[in-house]
Amino acid sequence: MGKVHALWTLDGLHQLDEATVLQALADKQPRVRATAIRLCENFLKSETRGHVLAKLMEMTAEREPFVQQQLALTLGEAADPEADLAMAKLLQQAPDTEFMVDAVVSGLFGREASLLENLVNDGASNDQLVATLARCVFTSRRKADIEKLITWMASSKKSSALLDGVAATSLRKPVKLAGEPAELKQILDKRAARLASLLVWPGKPGVKTEQPLAPLTKQQQGRYDLGKVLFTGVCAACHQMHGRGLDGVAPPLMDSEWVLGSEQRMVRIILHGLTGPVSVRGKTYRLDMPAFGSFSDEQISAVLTYIRREWEHGAAPVEPGTVKVIRATTADRHEAWVQDQLRAIP
Ligand code: HEC
Repeated sequence: MGKVHALWTLDGLHQLDEATVLQALADKQPRVRATAIRLCENFLKSETRGHVLAKLMEMTAEREPFVQQQLALTLGEAADPEADLAMAKLLQQAPDTEFMVDAVVSGLFGREASLLENLVNDGASNDQLVATLARCVFTSRRKADIEKLITWMASSKKSSALLDGVAATSLRKPVKLAGEPAELKQILDKRAARLASLLVWPGKPGVKTEQPLAPLTKQQQGRYDLGKVLFTGVCAACHQMHGRGLDGVAPPLMDSEWVLGSEQRMVRIILHGLTGPVSVRGKTYRLDMPAFGSFSDEQISAVLTYIRREWEHGAAPVEPGTVKVIRATTADRHEAWVQDQLRAIP
C-alpha cells in the first residue's frame, strides 16, 4: 500500500490495467489525477517500472496542491535518485507551501540530505531549491543530517542558500544535539544566530538542563519496540513516520496535546476511533480516524508507549492493564468518539 491510505480509492480500482491508469494521469479532474498517481505505485515493482516512472516524472509542472502532494509521495515510494530529483523540481514549483515540505520529507524519508549533498556539490544547482531542501533536512529533525548541513554551511559554495533555508525554517522546539557543532563558530553571517536558535546542546548558555527522563523498564522497552513495528505498519500510512501528519489525511502526533495528555483519552481513540472536528496544536481537523479495537491490550499499550516516547516525547508509557480496564468499561460503545466527549474524561 502507498503512503496515503487506501480509503481514498475503491478496491476495484486496483484491478485497472496500466494503460488506463497512465491515461488517467492526464485527466482534467485533479482527484482522478491524484488517484491515478497513487495507483502507479502498483506498477513500480513490475518490469514496466521505467516507463511508469518516466510518465510520473513528466508531471512536475502539476499545479494542484494535493496532486503535487500525492506526486511527491509516489515519487518517493520509487526510491530512485532520478525520481528524487523530479521531486525536488516539484518542490521548486511550490517552495513556500508548508505541506509540500511535509510531503517531500515523507516521500524522501531519510534521503533528504543525500539529495541535498548532490545539489550542494553541483555549483550550478538552483539556490532556492537548495534553500528549501535545507529546510526539509531541518524539518526531518535527523541529527546526523543536520550536523552535515552545518558543515556545508560553514564551507561550501552553497552556504548562503543553505543559510537562507535555515532563516525560513520554523521549528516547534529546537533540535537537541549531543554537543555544540564545531563548525558553528566558523559561520560568520548574521543568519548564524538564527541557526543557533534552532539548536540546543548540553551546556549551551542560557539553556536550562532538563531532568533526564525515567528510563523505560525492559518490559516497557519491549513494548516500545513492538509499538514501532505496529506504528510503521498501520498508523504511519496516515500520520507518517515523522509524526507530522499529512495535509487532508491525518493530523500531527508529534507534540500533539492528545498524545502527550491523558492516557484515558488516548486508549479510547485507538479502541473506537475519532470523528469530527478535533483541534491539534491550534489547528482544527475535520476527518475520521478508524477504530483499532481488534488490537490486543498489549498491542495498544505498545503503540501508545511508542508515540508517547518517539519524536523526543517524554510522556509516561501505557500499561496493558490500563487498556484492559478501559476496554471493559467502554464495552457498550460502538461509535467513534468526538473531542468534547473525550475532553470530559480526565
Ligand atoms: C486511515 C488513517 C489513519 C490511521 C491508519 C490512523 N489514524 Fe489516527 N487519526 C486519523 C485522523 C483522520 C485523525 C483525526 C480525526 C478527526 O478529525 O476527528 C486521527 C487522530 C488521531 C489522534 C488524535 C489527534 C492527534 O493528532 O493527536 C491520535 C492520538 C491518533 N490519531 C493516533 C493514531 C494511532 C496510534 C494510529 C495507529 C494505531 C492511528 N492514529 C492510525 C487518521 C488515521
